[in-house]
Amino acid sequence: MTDDRARPPHRGLVRRFKVPTRLVHWSLSVFFILLLLTGLTNFVPELKTIHIGGARLFAWAHVALGFAMVAVAAVALLALNRSRSLRDDMDALTRNGPDDTRWLRHQLARLIRRGGSEPPVAKFNAGQKLNALLSAAATAGLLGTGVILGINYITKRVFSTVFVADVFPLHTWLALAFIPVLLGHLYLALINPSTREALRGMTSGSVRRDWARRHHPGWTPGED
Ligand code: HEM
Repeated sequence: MTDDRARPPHRGLVRRFKVPTRLVHWSLSVFFILLLLTGLTNFVPELKTIHIGGARLFAWAHVALGFAMVAVAAVALLALNRSRSLRDDMDALTRNGPDDTRWLRHQLARLIRRGGSEPPVAKFNAGQKLNALLSAAATAGLLGTGVILGINYITKRVFSTVFVADVFPLHTWLALAFIPVLLGHLYLALINPSTREALRGMTSGSVRRDWARRHHPGWTPGED
């Protein structure tokens, strides 16, 4: 990623995300995926039992990554105070209006019969907003329950056994329930031809102008 002020968008491209939003997106997603993968090793006996120096490799890696992600999430929250563009993106993602209901109705109607023109969408459609909401809720829940499990894993005290036994299934089910949401997000970002362009916005910061006009006609690039 480069400094946005130094490089104006290429002709035919419009700026979609500045560096702070991309940094927050990628740092949280890399940690999230590493945590999911190391956590899922618990369901694979061959991986779960790998030990190094008497310690369970993936369990310790998971706990270390978990505390690191808590620190990254705290920095991301602090960055909200410092970065105007990040705040604007968060506002646009969390603000909902009549266009969201229309967009959701249109998508449901499309499942039944093809065709019909898309209602006007601003920077984010209702699906993206829903994905952001579910991701934020799952991340907060997993970090909260994870910290309790992590402290218990290291100290074997602080919390009662009964409390930890109640928290563990919450952690497990939050992680498992989020997998379909994550797979849907990955499908739209990496595979689905009509939405794949959005990935460029999260990597280089810009998207094709014609794509932006078609998918986000109510968004004025530059004004967010
Ligand atoms: C944020 C994303 C996270 C995901 C997707 C995730 C996922 C998982 C999964 C799938 C398991 C296995 C559950 C089972 O065996 O039933 C697990 C276990 C565990 N997680 Fe997480 N977790 C996350 C965050 C954290 C954090 C932040 C911490 C601690 C700081 C943490 C600490 C633990 C501990 C201690 C276990 C039990 C390890 C063991 O005894 O083998 N997790 N996690």
